[in-house]
Amino acid sequence: MHTIHVEGQTGRSTLMIGERLAHLKQYLPDGRTVIITDEVVAAHYRHLFPEADVITIGCGEVNKTLDTLAMIYDQLVRLEADRSTFIVGIGGGIVGDISGFAASTYMRGLRFAFVATSLLAQVDATVGGKNGVNFKGYKNMVGVFNQPEFVIADIELLKSLPPAQIACGLAEIVKHGCIADADYFAYIEEHTQAIAGLDHGVMLRLVRDSVAIKAAVVNQDEREAGERRKLNFGHTFGHAFEKTLGVSHGVAVSLGMVLAAELSRDKGLLAPDEVQRIKHLLTRLSLPTAADHDPSAVFNALKKDKKRSRDQIHVVLLKGLGRAVVQSMAVDDLQTWLAARST
Ligand SMILES: NC(=O)c1ccc[n+]([C@@H]2O[C@H](COP(=O)([O-])OP(=O)(O)OC[C@H]3O[C@@H](n4cnc5c(N)ncnc54)[C@H](O)[C@@H]3O)[C@@H](O)[C@H]2O)c1
Repeated sequence: MHTIHVEGQTGRSTLMIGERLAHLKQYLPDGRTVIITDEVVAAHYRHLFPEADVITIGCGEVNKTLDTLAMIYDQLVRLEADRSTFIVGIGGGIVGDISGFAASTYMRGLRFAFVATSLLAQVDATVGGKNGVNFKGYKNMVGVFNQPEFVIADIELLKSLPPAQIACGLAEIVKHGCIADADYFAYIEEHTQAIAGLDHGVMLRLVRDSVAIKAAVVNQDEREAGERRKLNFGHTFGHAFEKTLGVSHGVAVSLGMVLAAELSRDKGLLAPDEVQRIKHLLTRLSLPTAADHDPSAVFNALKKDKKRSRDQIHVVLLKGLGRAVVQSMAVDDLQTWLAARST
């Protein structure tokens, strides 16, 4: 097991990589625990949960809403949960985001923790203290920064995760190599076959290194005033692909990273062979590097990006593999670049 800490304004989060869900009980405080999970995770793993009341939500982004939150509050009231109740979210990123928000707001805040069961939750969603729900079609529009007391990332649970969900986590793992660590990127390149087979040792190393990279960024800039923006590499374009093509988050981030790498190349920051390495790695991990798309639709979706300010947009670029830089770019220049790229 590897232990990594995130030091947030609301407290310290201890991330236990390689710890097992079956050992959760030993980390729980004395007193009452309520577990929040989703239907699929409950079907697979409820037999490993410690004795506790369980609130089960539906699966998918459509359930990451204020309505589901209200259902959780309702059940907490029914269960007579009080300020001493400890909440544990067991599931992927959706369970994490919504259970963290429910715990942070019910009776002005309960203590809480997560067991991350998807690869994306292990390397990304449960690290860094962002909790929240979608609102009227806007992703993560309502939420809080609040660190879970601990997170268990049980690598064994990945065996039941569908391949499309593994791909979502792998896109974030490649992102971490791109923005922060060229040696890590090379390690991923060298182990694509072991990754395809979900080799325990290799997956443990990936989760550990990715968590260490994200935790280091969050420790510098928890509230995303500067450094944390680098974690959005591939995501500004990615969110636009997600909206216009209706593809999954992992597919969209993969396409978005290719675009951001090409933009970095065209700005003279990244060598052409480094762009090729990124594309080649994504392909070997079964992630797409190109998709038929209408550049004007992608541009229109980009203009709605909530991180845009007036006529400028923050783009995360690579200044060589393993080093991200955030640049402000005129929205018009980005439109021209996107249009020229597709001709
Ligand atoms: N808070 C953050 O910093 C942050 C960062 C990145 C993403 N997110 C959020 O995370 C969410 C996506 O997370 P996700 O990709 O984990 O999606 P998810 O929570 O929907 O999980 C994906 C699917 O896999 C199932 N699943 C989870 N673990 C499983 C397992 N071990 N075996 C079998 N099935 C399993 C789930 O039931 C679900 O159906 C998005 O809502 C996104 O906004 C949050």
